[in-house]
Amino acid sequence: MVSADFSVHSGAAFSAAIGNDRLDRLSDYPFTRLANLLAGVTPRANVAPVVLTVGEPQHTPPALIDETLRANTAGWGKYPPVGGTPEFRAAAGDWLTRRYGLPTGLLHAESSLLPVSGTREALFMLALLAVPPHKAGKQPAVLMPNPFYAPYEGAAVMAGAEPVFLPGTRATGFLPDLDALTPELLERTALFYLCTPANPQGAAASAAYLAKAIGLARDYGFVLAVDECYAEIYLDRPPIGALEVAASLPHGGAPWSNLLVFHSLSKRSSAAGLRSGFVAGDPALIGRFSRLRSYANAGMPLPVVAASTALWRDEAHVEENRRLYRAKFAAAEAELQGRYGYYRPDGGFFLWLEVGDGEEAAKRLWAEGAVRVLPGGYLAHSVPGEPNPGAAFIRVALVQDAETVGQACAAIVRILG
Ligand SMILES: Cc1ncc(COP(=O)(O)O)c(C=O)c1O
Repeated sequence: MVSADFSVHSGAAFSAAIGNDRLDRLSDYPFTRLANLLAGVTPRANVAPVVLTVGEPQHTPPALIDETLRANTAGWGKYPPVGGTPEFRAAAGDWLTRRYGLPTGLLHAESSLLPVSGTREALFMLALLAVPPHKAGKQPAVLMPNPFYAPYEGAAVMAGAEPVFLPGTRATGFLPDLDALTPELLERTALFYLCTPANPQGAAASAAYLAKAIGLARDYGFVLAVDECYAEIYLDRPPIGALEVAASLPHGGAPWSNLLVFHSLSKRSSAAGLRSGFVAGDPALIGRFSRLRSYANAGMPLPVVAASTALWRDEAHVEENRRLYRAKFAAAEAELQGRYGYYRPDGGFFLWLEVGDGEEAAKRLWAEGAVRVLPGGYLAHSVPGEPNPGAAFIRVALVQDAETVGQACAAIVRILG
């Protein structure tokens, strides 16, 4: 019998003999590191484990999904087109126009928007599109916040670029400091991944910040990829978006040049398993992305396209989601009482708590309280001469119900003090 254990092929010995050794430059994925950290730690008996690691909302997915899938079963027999359907593009484009108050007709969904099978694959594949062999005669740079969503680094490295990690600390407002970017670096920058609201810190970029980032992309000829997958999870005000800012700048008829935004139904609609999102923006980039995706992407199955169309047209389930998150943050706040540098994020559903030593805290919380959280250092990189900007933190994903969240936060306070 053939073993399904691929671990025998995953090590450096294999790659040294054959294959693309860029893969070996990547750190282990954050959840692999967590599994290794906690492998020898046994949680206290008689306590039900609470998993607050993965950003996978546990709310019941909207009934609209099943209804629409059932009504579109004929689509399972068809290869999906790269661009999805006109109905999908119109629904996602109308949503962008509504959500960000874009001038009617400014966003042509037919030429400026593509479905993606979850934004992870598209964020990754974008680097293959955006990174040339050389920029300004040098190895291209891909900029990303630090901490960051792991696929940004994977994409940069696999595309042959140098990943450049820009600290997103309390001192920088939890977003990269754009004023710290030197012309030398910007000239060789091919792609800048910006996440707003940020995972894990929840900081949302201001209009001035986004305007500056868009200006830099245009001045230095790079692609600005704004990952807005947490844009719909907020407590008070809807976070501003990059298209909204681009529309307000002088644009000479090309409002989206150099800019792509990424949106997902995974968080907005609690539907991570649907694998549904879209990318929108610069029509020239979207055209080239469509060409690349014809070669590489499986396409979004047509029944999924239909379900996604229905979800982008519905706001009721999203409002209900936000209501559930507000209750969870209230439960967390009642227990934490401002400890560990707690602040209300502008968006997203993570607590980013400063606990001293994130790894040690994660081990203790698992051992003593069966509460599983992610050490912040696993989401960040050490840059020479600087500490890992996540090392002192834990990330707590408020994906369970409010009562469970409250109990978990009480356990955090009891155990960590
Ligand atoms: C910052 C960020 N971007 C993108 C994604 C990808 O989401 P999906 O592929 O489900 O659309 C995630 C998922 O956790 C995320 O945290």
